[in-house]
Amino acid sequence: MSSVSTAADPSAPIGVFDSGIGGLTVVRALRVRLPKESIIYFGDTARVPYGTKSAETITRFAIQDADFLASRGVKLIVAACHSASSAALAELTRRFAVPVLGVIEPGARALVAATRSNRVAVIGTNATITSAAYERAIRALRSDVEILAKPTPLFVPLAEEGWLDGDVAEMTARRYLSGLAQEKIDALLLGCTHFPLLTPVISRVLGPQVRLIDSSEETAVAAAELLRSRGMLNPKGPALHRFYLSDLTPGFEAIGARFLGAPLGEVVRTSVGE
Ligand code: DGL
Repeated sequence: MSSVSTAADPSAPIGVFDSGIGGLTVVRALRVRLPKESIIYFGDTARVPYGTKSAETITRFAIQDADFLASRGVKLIVAACHSASSAALAELTRRFAVPVLGVIEPGARALVAATRSNRVAVIGTNATITSAAYERAIRALRSDVEILAKPTPLFVPLAEEGWLDGDVAEMTARRYLSGLAQEKIDALLLGCTHFPLLTPVISRVLGPQVRLIDSSEETAVAAAELLRSRGMLNPKGPALHRFYLSDLTPGFEAIGARFLGAPLGEVVRTSVGE
């Protein structure tokens, strides 16, 4: 079990980590649902992407990211990265004294609740889809749901570049998703931090009959429920939000603001695992 944090103080912050700044979509959802909670965010911008790496490497990085948050006394660690959640959640849960919440289970729950036809799809990075973590999570909830899983890795750089809705995004979405559009699915899980930004183009390709499930919303719901059930909600605030990145890459402020839906304010560079 990792050392540092055994925080039982409801006023302690929630820790959120991601491979980069895409996990700010989860912070955004947490801020809306839990406005009194302080949040510490760590984005591993020096080592992003995780989604192209092996499960072993992703797990090593995820432990280092979570260690950083635990050292800041967080009461809950949220692995906002789907690639890290699919590769490392069990190991993180085993190592850390505070609860660890991933994005896979909340997303799977919402997907299963949304489908009527029992035919669903999941898209994500190569690491997430190869791990089959979503299939396992969905099957654990409902064994009769048919699942189509497809890696759509180019959506990640498109979102980072801000090419959310033009020709290139449209062409990429068609190439990846027009097969799925023929499959009579009625719900699709956006299994990557970056994909909610591409909702309009994905929806256009799949059609209005396919509901898009954004895991960040569902993860915020699950975080609220977990804290409430343990009596760990912060009763009063004030909520402080701190952002740490392992590299202050060009344009991080603009891209970060796009994911967060607001300016980040002060961002501190910090290294982990060195
Ligand atoms: N945060 C990653 C995820 O949700 C996407 C970016 C990456 O590949 O690291 O899978």
